[in-house]
Amino acid sequence: MGLNIISRRHFLGRTAGLAAGAFAGPNLLLRGQNTASKKLNLVVIGANGKGQSDTQGVTLDHNIVALVDVDTKRLEEAAKKREDHHLKSGMEAPPAPKLYQDFRKMLDEMANEIDGVIVSTPDHTHYVAAMHAIKHNKHVCVQKPLCNRISEVRDMHRAAKEAKLVTNMGNQGRTMEGQRLAKEWIEQGAIGTLKEIRLWTNRPIWPQGPLVKKAAECPPNLDWDLWLSSEANEPYFEFEIPEGMSAKRGNSIHPFNWRGWWQFGSGALGDMGCHIMDATFSILGQLIPEQIDVTSSPISDTCAPVWTDLVYHMPAGKHAALKVSWKDGSKDGVPNKPEISPHMTSELAKKAFDKASSGMMFIGTEGTIFEGEAYCSSPVIYNEERYTQVRLDMKAGKIVKTEPRSAMPNNPQGEWAHHIVNGGLPASNFDYSAPLTEFVLLGNLAVRAQQSVQWDKQAMKVTNAEAPNQYISRPSYRDGWKA
Ligand SMILES: NC(=O)c1ccc[n+]([C@@H]2O[C@H](COP(=O)([O-])OP(=O)(O)OC[C@H]3O[C@@H](n4cnc5c(N)ncnc54)[C@H](O)[C@@H]3O)[C@@H](O)[C@H]2O)c1
Repeated sequence: MGLNIISRRHFLGRTAGLAAGAFAGPNLLLRGQNTASKKLNLVVIGANGKGQSDTQGVTLDHNIVALVDVDTKRLEEAAKKREDHHLKSGMEAPPAPKLYQDFRKMLDEMANEIDGVIVSTPDHTHYVAAMHAIKHNKHVCVQKPLCNRISEVRDMHRAAKEAKLVTNMGNQGRTMEGQRLAKEWIEQGAIGTLKEIRLWTNRPIWPQGPLVKKAAECPPNLDWDLWLSSEANEPYFEFEIPEGMSAKRGNSIHPFNWRGWWQFGSGALGDMGCHIMDATFSILGQLIPEQIDVTSSPISDTCAPVWTDLVYHMPAGKHAALKVSWKDGSKDGVPNKPEISPHMTSELAKKAFDKASSGMMFIGTEGTIFEGEAYCSSPVIYNEERYTQVRLDMKAGKIVKTEPRSAMPNNPQGEWAHHIVNGGLPASNFDYSAPLTEFVLLGNLAVRAQQSVQWDKQAMKVTNAEAPNQYISRPSYRDGWKA
């Protein structure tokens, strides 16, 4: 969950107000022309939290004509932070964006002025917000996971494709050099034959497990009804924190803590999978697993478990059939990590592994690619002699770069805007990120049903059991929310 803060030029200030500044009309016709100096008119829905750094990814190069957030306090804070970012970057204060709580109202009033929409709300609202934007023919950049239901991911992908829109998911690892290097190393034999992939994360770092709702008073700054969006109306609630669970992040579901609730989030796997499984998905040629097995701490109908072990059985494709294991959370206070690779025997290697709260190991017959964070931004190879040899091979042109590089590394929102203006495709456009999100969410079918699943991609159906299929789609949408 890193924040990509982009800094540049500097300025002369003024305070963000609630009134709109003056903007040129939308630049929809610019697509494909080499008009790098042209500015798009963009909107961020879910303006605070991750939406802040998403805004920073585009605000210095484009016009932010509106910010949308259901929490007025956070909305005004987001507008202020955006302005501060311009000032700190040596730029003038930008014209103040219009501020909205309801993205539907914003689109009704401003659709004619907008080129693209960034969606950075809690997961359950990604689908409805992005679909409203797509129906208004707006390019969309949506945070990960694209949606928290597989059927929504497919629907959104199809709609954006039919409308020929430029799309991207906010998984920054996909813009980075490291993922591409790892793929090129493996494809060009740097670790011998790929045998196994081990993935892990210390998430959840928010309350998860069998949480119990308790009635509470909604903060005056939050429009709870809008926060629920398409979910059935229910009174605002907080939750009891079970004994032994950290209360560090409080007991309200907004902000941030919605992640563990199936209705609103997608648990540790949904939260981190689109980062940590990204390189794996790309390296294995975007294959669908033959079977996923699961073990986890006790689950409830409402919340994801405190730890999970999954095994994705991958068929042969670019590589021989192999297992991808996923571990999250902690067991009795001990981080739920895989065994260290047999190639990581040095003190340096052990230290790097111990330090890594999230990470991945691509284990080959001759070596292991290790990454001690979620995005695969700077992988290394063990043992050390092999890594030295690989670097020499790269220098000598025996291992070469074959993957296209991002126009804007570490900035998926900027990359998306760049391609709206200049043509070409962002690396995590929906043709890539929709199947990646589906790959991740398949694991949650196994977790929620507490059983192995086999997937028929064509039929969008689990074939070995009926129970997991109830989790593919959202049971219902409140009137007025489905675009
Ligand atoms: N790519 C990354 O590294 C990364 C990091 C963190 C979060 N994320 C993703 O970003 C999204 C937001 O996560 P977060 O941690 O910022 O959550 P958050 O709860 O902290 O912030 C979400 C913001 O959206 C607002 N919001 C909620 N419902 C809304 C609605 N219907 N319309 C408009 N605004 C609404 C909230 O008031 C809040 O300000 C999630 O999808 C998350 O998975 C991605």
